[in-house]
Amino acid sequence: MKVLVTGGAGFIGSHISQRLIGEGHEVRILDNLSTGRKENLFEFADKVEFREGDIRNAALVQELARECDLIYHQAAVVSVPYSVEHPQETHDVNIQGTINVLQAARACRVKRVVFACSAAVYGEDPELPKRETMAPLPVSPYGVEKITGEYYLGAWNALYGVQTVSLRYFNVFGPRQDPRSPYSGVISVFVDRALSGAQPTVFGDGEQYRDFVFIDNVVQANMLAGRVEAAAGRCYNVGCGEKTSLNELLGMLGRICDREMEPQYADPRAGDIRESVADISRIKRELGYAPKVAVEDGLRQLVEYERAKR
Ligand code: NAD
Ligand code: UD1
Repeated sequence: MKVLVTGGAGFIGSHISQRLIGEGHEVRILDNLSTGRKENLFEFADKVEFREGDIRNAALVQELARECDLIYHQAAVVSVPYSVEHPQETHDVNIQGTINVLQAARACRVKRVVFACSAAVYGEDPELPKRETMAPLPVSPYGVEKITGEYYLGAWNALYGVQTVSLRYFNVFGPRQDPRSPYSGVISVFVDRALSGAQPTVFGDGEQYRDFVFIDNVVQANMLAGRVEAAAGRCYNVGCGEKTSLNELLGMLGRICDREMEPQYADPRAGDIRESVADISRIKRELGYAPKVAVEDGLRQLVEYERAKR
């Protein structure tokens, strides 16, 4: 198969690309390197077709979708607080960019588009765990953009003969997640602080919790979403179904790194949700997904990877 991965130089997209290549597929990547890095492709650079460019450029997306059987659409501005500060920019990338991908799929007769959606679509609905049948109640521009993208997918699936699958990732972590920006995912930042000896900052009281999911589990979900026929037109939570608070996370990390992780507490972030954990029964039942790496094991693997890198 020929597969286009948008955002393929990013954290999740590079792992999806690497797995696809390992399975013998031809992979093409479109990425503007805004948060992704070419070093993420280092282990398989000679086996991938890389194009630096923007998903806001509809003609370019269409050029790259040509002859593809499948698109993994991972490119996005991924930070919730960044979307709070720059809602117009994130609208353009996360909504218009997604329409460009869908239009390209339609024009080039790509069979299926798998979309990186987010748990942020659930917002502050107090009901837990989050189920796909709940009404979305996003509280950030990013959450609004991700549910809008998913709604557009549904329309393309119904109207234009493009099969679509939306994966609502919970909090993904693992090697290649960039810790260096103020908008980086919390585990990448905390591991970086643990190894450099710096003090981590917790926004809020640290009792907010997330369903952290190691990258290997997310790649597995993507492979299933790409090939299971019955997934067309569906959306699925991708998590582990277990909650970990930030304070618990720091405790785990302290044990793994054998040091006290005493944080500094600061004001909560605007647009933050407090509690997020997935019901993963739909994806288990319909796609046969089974998360294989638990949070603490994933954390251990990440710490080893970061230590080796240093
Ligand atoms: P990432 O920042 O590492 O990857 C995003 C990639 O998209 C980067 O390589 C970036 O350069 C690229 N990109 C951004 N804007 C672009 C544009 N306009 N044109 C072309 N490329 C562009 O982040 P990630 O964690 O790998 O996120 C991948 C996808 O998963 C995103 O859609 C994100 O919203 C979604 N997601 C991530 C998480 C998580 O916990 N990491 C959770 C839910 C959803
Ligand atoms: C993350 C993803 C988002 C995804 C969503 C799905 C990133 C950057 N964001 O958002 O793309 O759609 O999960 O659930 O990958 N925090 C600290 N200290 C820090 C950094 C963060 O206390 O140094 C806190 C935040 O305030 C928040 C929690 O940790 O309460 C998680 O933050 P973050 O990792 O940015 O993830 P989400 O906002 O949940």
